Amino acid sequence: MKLLLFGIVSYLLGSISFSYLFTKWLAKEDIRTLGSGNAGATNTLRAIGVGPALLVLLLDALKGMLPVWVAVVYFQTPWLGVIAGACAIIGHNWPLYYGFKGGKGVATTMGVFFVMSFYPALFAALLVIVIIAITRYVSLGSMVFMIVAPLLMLMMHSIPQSAAIGALLIGLLSIWRHKTNIVRLVKGNERKLGQ
Ligand code: G3P
Repeated sequence: MKLLLFGIVSYLLGSISFSYLFTKWLAKEDIRTLGSGNAGATNTLRAIGVGPALLVLLLDALKGMLPVWVAVVYFQTPWLGVIAGACAIIGHNWPLYYGFKGGKGVATTMGVFFVMSFYPALFAALLVIVIIAITRYVSLGSMVFMIVAPLLMLMMHSIPQSAAIGALLIGLLSIWRHKTNIVRLVKGNERKLGQ
């Protein structure tokens, strides 16, 4: 019962779409009708600029961090962290308040992974910065993070193996949400950072 309640609260928190709220507030537009149509920080950058995009990145990450922090630090249960984090990400991707049409869960997953296991997430994030700086493809960097962070968790034994496998499944969910980006990357018409 407690687990169900915790999952529902995490989902409801994850359902708050900061990219939607900021774009509605500042541009009177629905973020999902602009740019890539994704409700996320990258598309917020295209739609309304750097400042709001950074805020969206931070707030979307925080809504993933909070439930995992409560599970891991307060209840000291890594697996509860995986479930709570997954519920927040599902909320971000399929938000209750906005017709179940949300984002790809990148910032929220980053928040989840940083609390689950700090150093693997940090190393993966640094690699992502290098990849984005070289290629200017945010989607490519995001997908690399989704694979590299959980693999590092597995290799470094920083958390129980079952929790790391849970993280890998969460990462694969985000990669699946990037399927239109993958098609564009293959075709060579993916938007670059700044375009
Ligand atoms: O923020 C998600 C990112 O990886 C891709 O976003 O808008 O280019 O599809 P977008």
